[in-house]
Amino acid sequence: MADANKDRLVSGDIDDLNEAQIEKSLRPRMLAQYIGQDRVKHQLQVYITAAKQREESLDHVLLYGPPGLGKTTLALVIANELGVNIRTTSGPAIEKPGDLVALLNELRPGDVLFVDEIHRLPKIVEEMLYSAMEDFYIDIVVGQGPTAHPVHFPLPPFTLIGATTRAGMLSAPLRDRFGISEHMAYYSPDDLSEIVKRSATVFDMAIDAEGAHEIARRSRGTPRVANRLLKRVRDFAEVAGKSPVDLQMVDHALDQLQVDAQGLDQIDRKLLMFMIRDYQGGPVGLSTIAANIGEEMATIEEMYEPYLLQIGYLKRTPRGRMVTPAGFAHMGMTAPEPDNRAQ
Ligand code: ADE
Repeated sequence: MADANKDRLVSGDIDDLNEAQIEKSLRPRMLAQYIGQDRVKHQLQVYITAAKQREESLDHVLLYGPPGLGKTTLALVIANELGVNIRTTSGPAIEKPGDLVALLNELRPGDVLFVDEIHRLPKIVEEMLYSAMEDFYIDIVVGQGPTAHPVHFPLPPFTLIGATTRAGMLSAPLRDRFGISEHMAYYSPDDLSEIVKRSATVFDMAIDAEGAHEIARRSRGTPRVANRLLKRVRDFAEVAGKSPVDLQMVDHALDQLQVDAQGLDQIDRKLLMFMIRDYQGGPVGLSTIAANIGEEMATIEEMYEPYLLQIGYLKRTPRGRMVTPAGFAHMGMTAPEPDNRAQ
């Protein structure tokens, strides 16, 4: 599963509690502190201001895009900006209608319910959400057999914030019930550099502009990766007694971590190398790649492939994935002539 790989660059040398506290303090609380995603931020600012002026709940929000780009953080920021409580859960955690009823029952007017991985909601739960989202009620069946009867259960107006890495897997009826739908894009190196500098201050760590920029450049456009790399760089720098952290220190640490100049890690390179060596760059089916590099298909689709597609090292064709000439070049190889490749 994608989740199992969330921690792929963490070696576990900070205890969980400490880690959770740091993670929390790394998070911005207000939109003005949230770096990057300018288009999304500006639009949300308008919708939040309007909802507050009208003293209404904010319309339901869908946040979609690759993992690690700050969807959960943004949901917390939205609730903060609205000045309401937020309840956080995830699609797979809501197993049955009763679980959803329990969550909805605790909401106060205007509150936010955040559902991560909303594409993984069980169908029966999803169907209950339709009326909850549209008209703020649910109908539940109480009792069994001849005594079973429907009960109409009104809800306070609330805002559902759904997050997904797979917008295409949402059913049309669910997707249509989100009045606000925002795509989260990969961050620019400049934005990531700001995030790295901000995180460094949270860690009470000195890093120069070049060092911060190098971490940013090698973080695959993803704040979660940038913060992880920063933590590991901090370990190397502390052990070496190096402060402030500079470009040389960052280079040394990231080389040790086997994160290459483009931010690809061992698994990215294993994937590209398998396709090049065994299939002359493809096309190769996803299941073949997964079986050979020992990763789940969903992990490859959600975690590895989006960035390789984004930087143009991979492309998708109807017959499978192909390594592009740029992908070959990155691996120090030359792509075969198009005539010699199966198209
Ligand atoms: N930490 C992680 N993502 C962030 C963001 N977008 N802005 C500020 N701090 C962050």
